[in-house]
Amino acid sequence: MVQEKNKQLKSLNTFGISCYADQYIEFTGADDLYHIFSRNLPEQWQVLSGGSNILFTGNYKGTLLHPTDNSIEIIEDTPHDVLIRTGAGTVWDDFVLYCVEHELSGAENLSYIPGYTGAAPVQNIGAYGSEAKDIIETVEIFDLSKLSTRNLTKEECAFGYRDSIFKNALKGKAIVTNVFFRLHKIFTPNLSYSNLEERVTALGNISLQNVRKAVIDTRKEKLPDPKKIGNGGSFFKNPVVAPEIAETLQRQYPDMPVYQTANGVKIPAGWLIDKAGWKGYRRGDAGVHTKQALVLVNYANASGQDILTLATDIRNDILQKFGIVITPEINIL
Ligand code: EPU
Repeated sequence: MVQEKNKQLKSLNTFGISCYADQYIEFTGADDLYHIFSRNLPEQWQVLSGGSNILFTGNYKGTLLHPTDNSIEIIEDTPHDVLIRTGAGTVWDDFVLYCVEHELSGAENLSYIPGYTGAAPVQNIGAYGSEAKDIIETVEIFDLSKLSTRNLTKEECAFGYRDSIFKNALKGKAIVTNVFFRLHKIFTPNLSYSNLEERVTALGNISLQNVRKAVIDTRKEKLPDPKKIGNGGSFFKNPVVAPEIAETLQRQYPDMPVYQTANGVKIPAGWLIDKAGWKGYRRGDAGVHTKQALVLVNYANASGQDILTLATDIRNDILQKFGIVITPEINIL
């Protein structure tokens, strides 16, 4: 088990924030976690997996636990579908690629999302009309109250829009060790999102490979590559408001996109931030991406506080201009 004190985190978070953690420990699975938590329970701890959805606003005064099990394994194979187990340290897009290469459908719209499979259920990651919950069957957790593993069904995970039990009742009480996904042998394309169908057909036939390629091309066009410009993807969630509020705003802004959901009307925060004039804004090395206003960026040496101050200014401005509160999607530490 790799264990380091005073660990520099710049290369371990996609925002590229330079800061230190008191302690950093890599774990493979439940045995390592048992060892860590039974001998001396770290008072303050956090899982740091792909580091692609986290903003460090200062040094981390505690222990960061980093999963390393990147195994992918088919554990059940029926005529219609396949159950796949991935260790929590599996790079998400390695898993998606594995599915597409094995002609398994369900993950292709989620191509090229950064991060690890172990974090996918926590955030219920989503893009282009699909969410991780659509393919997750079971999540194995290390339960800190019992110091042993147990499985949660999809229902028990209480998935919502970028939300799950892991961000609520089980926050600080469980660590994901394995995720089990159900993939389909029959390809049912999900091309309802925006111009995805157009982009796929432009590539030729509607195949798993072409859906993956269209999604990757779209992401590359809109979202900055963290290897070149530090960022954590969408900084805010898209707010869901009451229909009356959406209608009032739409009368004022007829071009405002809206999506009906079971809980209300979803308004793209990126559109609000763009409309408010923040797109491409830069203050020192902290900025708002030029092609997608929902993404805050670190051009080189911004601190986590610089990014947070910018985010707070944007949030206040959106509240003042539209009367809507936008909340961070990103995990702020
Ligand atoms: N828009 C603008 N200006 C902008 C950005 C967006 O007008 O600067 C408008 C777009 O024209 C579009 C609408 O807002 O009409 C939605 O934009 P987009 O399709 O880019 O998606 P999003 O709502 O901004 C969400 C997810 C992304 C995911 C995309 C595609 C959240 C918080 N974000 O973004 O997820 O990739 O949809 O499905 O739900 C992430 O979570 O990190 C992430 C990147």
